[in-house]
Amino acid sequence: MNVDHRVIALIDMDCFYVQVEQRLQPEFLGKPCGVAQYYTWKGGGLIAVNYEARDFGVKRGMRGEQAKELCPDFHVFHVQEVNGKANLTRYRDASADVFRVLNANFKLVEKASIDEAYLDLTDDIQKLKENRSNLTISDFPSTHLAGSTTKTEDERIEVFEKWLKDCQSDDEKRNFDLVLGAYLVEQIRKKIKEETGFFCSAGIARNKILAKLCCGFNKPKKQTVLPNSDIDYVFDKTPVQKIQGLGGKAGERVTELFQVDYIGQLRKYSLDILQTSLGEKDGCWLYNLIRGIETTPVNSRNLYKSISASKNFPGKTSLDTNEKIRSWCHNLAEEVFNRLEKDRTENKRRAKLLTVTCTLITNETIARSCPLNEYSIDRFANDAYRILKQFNKSSSTSNIYSPAIINLGISAGKFLDSVKTKSIADLFSKQTTKAEPITSMENLINWQEAEEEGDDDDDTETSTEKPPSPLPTTIAVAAAATKTTISPIKGDFFRKFQKNEERLKTPSKSEPKSSSSITSFFSRYSTNDNSSHSFG
Ligand code: CTP
Ligand code: CA
Ligand code: CA
Repeated sequence: MNVDHRVIALIDMDCFYVQVEQRLQPEFLGKPCGVAQYYTWKGGGLIAVNYEARDFGVKRGMRGEQAKELCPDFHVFHVQEVNGKANLTRYRDASADVFRVLNANFKLVEKASIDEAYLDLTDDIQKLKENRSNLTISDFPSTHLAGSTTKTEDERIEVFEKWLKDCQSDDEKRNFDLVLGAYLVEQIRKKIKEETGFFCSAGIARNKILAKLCCGFNKPKKQTVLPNSDIDYVFDKTPVQKIQGLGGKAGERVTELFQVDYIGQLRKYSLDILQTSLGEKDGCWLYNLIRGIETTPVNSRNLYKSISASKNFPGKTSLDTNEKIRSWCHNLAEEVFNRLEKDRTENKRRAKLLTVTCTLITNETIARSCPLNEYSIDRFANDAYRILKQFNKSSSTSNIYSPAIINLGISAGKFLDSVKTKSIADLFSKQTTKAEPITSMENLINWQEAEEEGDDDDDTETSTEKPPSPLPTTIAVAAAATKTTISPIKGDFFRKFQKNEERLKTPSKSEPKSSSSITSFFSRYSTNDNSSHSFG
């Protein structure tokens, strides 16, 4: 595929959790609102804030009470709690509503997070080209150009209309597919609003990184197109850390090494220099990215790759007795069980592996798994507890668990289609409380296996949704304007640090890890990018 001729869109719901709550209580529409987790301490921590409240300076991470000081009319919705743990079912269900609309209209839809989706519109545009050629400004009520900052609606119309005219009169029609992409995205956003009640924003560009970047330029209820001719202008103003995959330590390292603040400042470095400093693959990836070339494909996936529940137990709340651990194993098992049952009905598949992860007060993280042969709350809880017992260093006669646990998670993954596993399907239909011995255990600390659903589950107030990191490619030097055909490399170590991408696929045992990529530059500096999603 000619990757620099793709048209990719990133759709991101506006202040998503707030909209979900407002849909349930429409009397709060148009009012400054936020969603907080837990009622404790100063009105709970805000994890979502709507635009009306942002105008008053209210931000995510603030406490409900603090928000009220800034904005007396501020209304706080609270995330539901089940068994003392945040329950995100409401938002997941709302997300499913949005994805139903996307999937009904497009073939290539990738769920990037609870409120984000990538669309590859390239083929849809080819079809559209045959019937739609004469578009006018009225077809683009909320489209902005990434290369121009317009303050008023009149200015936006003037700038966009000129671009539209240029694109339509260009004999080579170089940007006309972006125009059609923007048109399709206007349409789908309208449809999402009609069918779900939710507003969203979008970015439209030649690759996923650019689409994600420009989606944030105009929000809410707006969309932004980034033609390749605007890339230099945009990159000259874009801090390195704003680029997906360069948000964490990798970005910090790049800014230090090259003494730059903005991604565009890297343009002056030759491929050779970038490769010498960053390694062959990552140097090449960055060199091409700066020139608007990035090849990560949009992968159609809508199903979670694993289903998990986890909870933080900071400070005094740490789990330091066997009793507490047993009780929380049960609570988390119950949540995973309920979601697995729903998943089994909806998606006709069964999980085959149970994984327990915990972080000890010593900051050591442990992950272990065992086969999951039946869906049963007691079974999940017992298996999890049995695994955790092995790490208790206190005497077997005492009730103390030491070192105490500060984060605990249970996750179910390795799904098989029920159709394919018909012979064992009956096994799952009956619930049993009898715990069978763990027949095999794998250490899952290594990256291939550490699967969780992530931020959708994580009820910690500090968890941040980070975008996926890039996949570097081994493309040869590719000048932006040339029609280079580039194939992305699969199985690169970079995946390890991708928040969304990492759990796309669990490499099979026969799929070797590339040793060159393991030592790759970015991998050494990306370990802070906690991965979060897990869509299969
Ligand atoms: N979320 C969360 N914890 C975070 C970040 C995000 O629980 N640290 C949840 C939010 O509640 C949010 C949803 O994930 O509504 C999507 O996050 P994001 O797109 O980053 O923010 P929005 O609230 O949707 O706001 P925006 O309009 O800026 O996209
Ligand atoms: Ca959002
Ligand atoms: Ca988002």
